[in-house]
Amino acid sequence: MKPLITTAVFDAKPYDRDYLAQGADAGQVAWRFLDFRLDVSTAGAAKGMQAACIFANDVADRAALEALVSHGVKLIALRCAGFNNVDLAAARELGLAVVRVPAYSPHAVAEHTVGLLLTLNRKIHRAYNRVRELNFSLAGLVGFDLCGKTVGIIGTGKIGRITAQIFRGFEARVIAHDAAPDQSWAERHGVGYVKLPDLLAESDILSLHVPLMPDTRHLLNGQSLALTKPGVFIVNTSRGRLIDTVALIAALKSGHVGGVALDVYEEEQGVFFEDLSGQVLQDDELSLLLNFPNVLITAHQAFLTREALSEIARVTIDNLLRHARGEPYLTETVL
Ligand code: NAI
Repeated sequence: MKPLITTAVFDAKPYDRDYLAQGADAGQVAWRFLDFRLDVSTAGAAKGMQAACIFANDVADRAALEALVSHGVKLIALRCAGFNNVDLAAARELGLAVVRVPAYSPHAVAEHTVGLLLTLNRKIHRAYNRVRELNFSLAGLVGFDLCGKTVGIIGTGKIGRITAQIFRGFEARVIAHDAAPDQSWAERHGVGYVKLPDLLAESDILSLHVPLMPDTRHLLNGQSLALTKPGVFIVNTSRGRLIDTVALIAALKSGHVGGVALDVYEEEQGVFFEDLSGQVLQDDELSLLLNFPNVLITAHQAFLTREALSEIARVTIDNLLRHARGEPYLTETVL
C-alpha cells in the first residue's frame, strides 16, 4: 500500500524506531528516522516531508519552524505530552498544525517517581554497587520509613494524582497544590489541598508534576527552597526548568535539602539521551550534582515502558493519518 504521509522523525532512538515502525498502520507512514535533534540547523533534514515528529528536547523555536515550513512540512507531531519546546504562537502564524500525545502512561512516570525516591532514600543504588564488590557493610545506608511522612505533590494532573495515590499506599500523609484542584478526587484518596507555602513548609518529600510554563519556571528557587523543611527530599520527573539548579546546589551544600532525585535537568538538552561516556562533561553544575552522594539522576527515562512506547506510537500514527486524510484531530491531542 502506498504510504499516506511522509514523516521525518527527529532524535529517533532505537526504541522509537522499533515502536513507531511496528505500530498498527505504521505501513501507511513513510518514515525518515534521523538520529539528531531538531533545531534551526538540522531542520533541512525534513526536506520534502509532510510531517516532523519530535520529542522533548528538540528545539522547535520560531527559526526552526520557519525552516521546516520552507522545506514543505505542514504538521509537527510531538511524541510526548510536554510542549514547552514548541513556539506555538509561531506555529500558528506559519499555519503549522501541532499535535501531541497527551497521556501515554501516567503510570510509567508516577512509578518511576516513586522508584527514584525509594532508591535515593534506601540507598539501593549504593548498596547494589557495594554488594557486587563483596562489601556487605550497612554503614551509611540508613534511610527513613515513608509511612507517616508528609509527601507534597505539586500538580495533581494525570501523573501527580497517580503518584499521590501510590504514596497513600505507603500510608504517607499526602498534601497537594494545584492551580485547579480536584476536590472530589482528593476526598476519595485522603489527600488535602493546601497553599503552596504551606505545602513547602510541611512536606518531608516534595514531588513536582506541574508542566513547565512561564509561571512555573524556577518554581523551586532560593526563596521557595528556604520555605522547605530542613532535610526535605525533592523528586522532579516533570521538567528540569522547574528548579533553579544553582539554588538547589546551594541548598544541598548547606545541608538544608536532604536528597534530590531528578529525571529531568535544567540543561538536559544535548546531554540526556546521549552516550557521552569517554567525553569531558562540559556542564559544571551537572558534574557537581553527579558528585553529591544524596543526588540520584536518571536521564529522562520516566516514560520508558513498553506500554508507554506502544501508546506513543499508536497516538502518533493516528495523529499523522488524521492529518493525511484531512480528518479532525482528537481534541486532546491538538495544541
Ligand atoms: P497534566 O496536564 O495532566 O497535569 C498538570 C497539572 O498541573 C494540572 O492539574 C494543572 O492544573 C497543574 N498546573 C498547571 N500550572 C500550574 C501552576 N502554575 N501551579 C499549580 N498547578 C499548576 O500533566 P501530566 O500528564 O500530569 O504531566 C505533568 C508533566 O510531566 C508534563 O507537563 C511533563 O512536563 C512531565 N512529563 C515527564 C515525563 C518524563 O518522562 N519525565 C513524561 C511525561 C510527562
